[in-house]
Amino acid sequence: MCGIVGYIGEKNSNEVIFNGLTRLEYRGYDSAGIGVQDNGIQQVKTAGKVADLIKACQLENFPQSQVGIGHTRWATHGVPNNLNAHPHKDNSGKFTLVHNGIIENYLSIRKLLSKNGIECKSETDTEVLVQLIGYIYNKENISFEEAVRSALVEVIGAYGIVVLCSDEPNKMVAAKKGSPLVLGVGENEFIIASDTSPIINYTRKIIYLDDGEILICDKNNFAVKNIDENIEVSKTINEIKYSLDQIEKSGYDHFMLKEIHEQPTSIAESMRGRIIKNDGKIKLGGLQDHLHDILNTKRIIITACGTSWHAGLIGSYVIEELVRMPVNVEYASEFRYRETVVGPDTVIFAISQSGETADTLAAIKKAKSLGALTVGIVNTVGSSIARETDCGVYIHAGPEIGVASTKAFTSQVTVLNLIAILMAQVKDQNIKEVSHLINDLELLPQKVNEILTNTDEIQEVAKHFIDAENFLYLGRGYQFPVALEGALKLKEISYIHAEGYPAAEMKHGPIALIDENMPVVFIVTKKGYEKILSNIKEVTSRGGKVIIITSFDRDELYEISKFVIKVPEIHQCILPILTTIPLQILAYNIAKNKGCNVDQPRNLAKSVTVE
Ligand code: AGP
Repeated sequence: MCGIVGYIGEKNSNEVIFNGLTRLEYRGYDSAGIGVQDNGIQQVKTAGKVADLIKACQLENFPQSQVGIGHTRWATHGVPNNLNAHPHKDNSGKFTLVHNGIIENYLSIRKLLSKNGIECKSETDTEVLVQLIGYIYNKENISFEEAVRSALVEVIGAYGIVVLCSDEPNKMVAAKKGSPLVLGVGENEFIIASDTSPIINYTRKIIYLDDGEILICDKNNFAVKNIDENIEVSKTINEIKYSLDQIEKSGYDHFMLKEIHEQPTSIAESMRGRIIKNDGKIKLGGLQDHLHDILNTKRIIITACGTSWHAGLIGSYVIEELVRMPVNVEYASEFRYRETVVGPDTVIFAISQSGETADTLAAIKKAKSLGALTVGIVNTVGSSIARETDCGVYIHAGPEIGVASTKAFTSQVTVLNLIAILMAQVKDQNIKEVSHLINDLELLPQKVNEILTNTDEIQEVAKHFIDAENFLYLGRGYQFPVALEGALKLKEISYIHAEGYPAAEMKHGPIALIDENMPVVFIVTKKGYEKILSNIKEVTSRGGKVIIITSFDRDELYEISKFVIKVPEIHQCILPILTTIPLQILAYNIAKNKGCNVDQPRNLAKSVTVE
């Protein structure tokens, strides 16, 4: 939540900041702002999108500079208006700051400032930090760097910040605790940002800041220090591995549509080099040193949020089926506060696309503190969760920009299958079944492609239901998490209320909702076919409209509904991947036909770095 960019170098900082903020807009789009060094600090802030900010700067003839910071906001404290937009200045006007995170003790800092005659102007938690920096600087007569460091020692909460000071116009100071910050190391320039997307145009050399670190740089040099001890730390330079076109729309109307269509490739990438050709064995380098511990654990807990949680639920079914080990699946937000039974005999699998989700990160920290082994299943290379976990497997889906997760989900399910197969192979369990699954995994990208090459029918179905106010999604077994995921996709981007349920649970409550206005999506597969057929009849006999997604093509389904979408047959452990794709396309087309902003749905942000 919130995207920040800072630039110091020889280029026009406005350009770097506007480009960077546009790329970071997936993190929040409630307001945007820019602050630059130009005979003091100049800034413009607007409620709304980065495009509105750019227009406002053009209208105001905003000065060009070579040092600047920018912000795109997902509002937490304070409504999204110009006043609450970042950057925030202190009352002396010497400091300006952009922030991603939450200052939890902002009320007590605000009181302290007020006692000393400093009143905050905005409703944000952020403003207290820049005011505190200004207060300490003016009172103690110390350097810019020292003032930021001293203020941060007083702060409780999460932050990624970049600060400018008009007394030291050729310097930029940034710091991180709990919110991501990456430094791009260019030729006579540095770019600091919430992720690598604003950096890739200028350099591929990056440094990940760690929690508790402060960065001080001018255009030629940088130093990273530990905030508490003020000791310089040495940092490793990494390389951005993805290509520029992976973070561009490349002719698609929306990132979500592009990412849906990338799935044959992203799934293949998730498997690349991991299924050994001659013996069908699975190789996952990131787990090698910990496999013994994983297989000898008493209990596996999968934790995640949102779509990643849905993937985790499928993963738990696959592991229990193939490996015969008990697996619980917990929302990270619940796990982190619940009195869970976790200890050295527990293994935690944490799943996250962004690798930055605050609840998942906190769940990992809790599990680690209780002695559990933590395994990350993450998309974003170098992210906080990837670095916090003891070991892990990247899903390699490539950058996912659309707020509604699509290709990350199918890659998560793919990787969870690989992990389960590896565990089963080492335990010598269900070997015949496993080899059948491996064969089908190899066919998976092709089968996904078959669905994507003909989406006309799904688009037709979407047209029929744009006015629906509610939707039910029902599935059994492996298709229950798919029902949850289909419902989440629809509500996220079309604002239609949708619920996912196990099909058999319908008669325990949701059946009361069925009438001629209630579309019900059934996910029908060979397993449990007769049972789900009965559930369909229970709906149609009450006038409900039925949409069927099926891998089990039976004539009677076409007699029941004129909306039948067929997907290819495949092993049941990976069938959720094929049944989810039509649901992604359905949600996308309903939202698009309704004129919704598919890539930037209201109130949402791609990575949820607050509680
Ligand atoms: C998915 O469409 C959502 N936007 C959301 O539920 C997401 O999956 C969740 O916030 C978890 O994110 P993560 O995978 O980056 O941790």
